[in-house]
Amino acid sequence: MSDWSVESWRSRPALHQPEYADAEAVGTAVAKLRSFPPLVTSWEIERLKGELAEAQQGRRFILQGGDCAESLADCTPDVITNKLKILLQMSLVLVQGARKPITRIGRFAGQYAKPRSSATETRPGPDGRDLTLPSYCGDLINSIEFTPEARRPNPHLMVRCYQHAALTLNFIRSLIDAGFADLHHPEYWELAFCDNAALHEEYHAMVLRLSDSVRFMETIAGQPIDDLTRVEFFTSHEGLHLLYESAGTRNVPRREGYYNLTTHLPWIGDRCRAIDGAHVEFFRGIRNPIGVKLGTSATPDELLALIDRLNPANEPGRLVLIHRMGLASVQRCLPPLLEAVNRNDRRVLWVCDPMHGNTKAANGSGSHPGRKTRDFADILGELDASFDLHAKAGTYLGGVHFELTGDHVTECTGGARGLSEADLAANYRTMCDPRLNYEQSLEMSFLIARRLASA
Ligand code: PEP
Ligand code: CO
Repeated sequence: MSDWSVESWRSRPALHQPEYADAEAVGTAVAKLRSFPPLVTSWEIERLKGELAEAQQGRRFILQGGDCAESLADCTPDVITNKLKILLQMSLVLVQGARKPITRIGRFAGQYAKPRSSATETRPGPDGRDLTLPSYCGDLINSIEFTPEARRPNPHLMVRCYQHAALTLNFIRSLIDAGFADLHHPEYWELAFCDNAALHEEYHAMVLRLSDSVRFMETIAGQPIDDLTRVEFFTSHEGLHLLYESAGTRNVPRREGYYNLTTHLPWIGDRCRAIDGAHVEFFRGIRNPIGVKLGTSATPDELLALIDRLNPANEPGRLVLIHRMGLASVQRCLPPLLEAVNRNDRRVLWVCDPMHGNTKAANGSGSHPGRKTRDFADILGELDASFDLHAKAGTYLGGVHFELTGDHVTECTGGARGLSEADLAANYRTMCDPRLNYEQSLEMSFLIARRLASA
């Protein structure tokens, strides 16, 4: 790829990039990033690519999930373990339904940059008059407090976020190595606050069945099954901030090409996938598997051009297409894309993100009018419709992508507990988009598992 370099994206239009005032500070931060050890290795990245290739062939299912925007303040043991716990529990539920291995990919250890629909935000200032400041763009770029200092893009945050991603990943790796994810001990992942009796019971009955099966298999094998003592987690984030992404991209000894070693699976957001834009230019040259989000504006021609640019060799496991159309549009927008990819025999892994097309403003009747929310029924509805549309097209929906948390937040409405818009104020904590809480996530996994079991 002689016309690509780690910096070639700089000659293309780059959307959603911060404008820093101090070029010298940017240079210092980027040099620091370049000098740090990588966060992940090319071996792990290639292993994930292999698993994504299996998922493409219908032999595996992908669970991708985590915060919309990770925050530096939430880099704490409780928040991180709760995220692992919910992803582990969901994957256990899914494996029973899918009867296939599940690959777990966190939206974590680097999900710190956000594209925003508006570059500025206006609120009443300290003197009561309207104050307009830059929007919060994630902890990688600025801070959420509504002051001019906090909202000013700060290049040093790139270094802090990289360090926090390393702290997060170090803790995840240590937990996994210590046996936290041992399938013989699902009680390790118990979360303290599931008050939903029916859901709790269903989960426990399933865990009991699973423990029985494990014991049964080990009795037959006459020895413990080692593979069950540890499961793997991969990391992913939106590769939005190209200075940060390119500073973490390296040529690895004894391997060809360049790897983005800040994460296993970076993805291009729906707003940044312009064929001649800087993001597509940067992504086409890295060896990682890559995701592309596809919203309602994606056309079949655009998609085929993107596939050609990003995966010209039709390499298995390279490209993950994450559709996020919304319940209202999925029937209209998804089939033409499936058909185009099918007709042209392109190898892609299809994943559904039922969150980003279903965001709406809560009604004024709640105590926090205008808060962003999503309804459980819309999320499930888009997933159900997607499974149907893939079945009809003869394609395989190989994974799901959620914004979720292991904590007891009140950001999405609905689910078994029937959270209403009036309940949102109780614990609305997201830094950006509304996430499924612990119970809603677990319930969602049971509903998907049922669907997979009947497929
Ligand atoms: C996201 O995943 O948080 C996001 C911004 O998604 P999209 O690019 O699909 O809007
Ligand atoms: Co989001």
